[in-house]
Amino acid sequence: MELEEIQEYIKKQLSDKRYYHSKCVMKRSRELAEKYGADVVIAEKIGIAHDVAKEMSEEEKLKYVKENNIEIDNTEKVNTGLLHAKIGKDIAIKKFGFSESMGQAIANHTTGNKDMDIYSKILFIADRTSKDRNFEDLEYLNELVDKGIDEAVLYILDKKIELQIKKRAPIHINGIIARNYILEEII
Ligand SMILES: [Fe+2]
Ligand SMILES: [Fe+2]
Repeated sequence: MELEEIQEYIKKQLSDKRYYHSKCVMKRSRELAEKYGADVVIAEKIGIAHDVAKEMSEEEKLKYVKENNIEIDNTEKVNTGLLHAKIGKDIAIKKFGFSESMGQAIANHTTGNKDMDIYSKILFIADRTSKDRNFEDLEYLNELVDKGIDEAVLYILDKKIELQIKKRAPIHINGIIARNYILEEII
């Protein structure tokens, strides 16, 4: 599907607030793709589509994974909010014609993962630094974005893990794998 068609679909699928977030992530993904030398249209498509499954109910999500043979782990069973990433990947591939790697960027966007390519990293950062977000550390995070893509990803992973600890909630294993991989193999 072309970008405009995907945008139309997302607009119909999501609330105004979530659609606005998706548009902001799309714009931010474009900026980051320009900055890091990636294909801007691919980054925009991933950005606009990434939360396509975010507003499904828990029941709908569990039904979807069952009907589409999507494997889920224990952490996802307990925290079904995480599932919108895997379901989003499946919808994007089947409905929007995404490639496996474009879909994988969506699958990776909540927890991070070991095998993050440039588009996974762009989405991961865009989802945290889009215009509709106002985290107090935005300025600092944007300095890291200038320093290097992996520095920014590592920082966001840390913050996500810290938040889970504060909430006394389980940490998805992929977040830890992603963090170790960056520290051990990249930085
Ligand atoms: Fe999301
Ligand atoms: Fe998002």
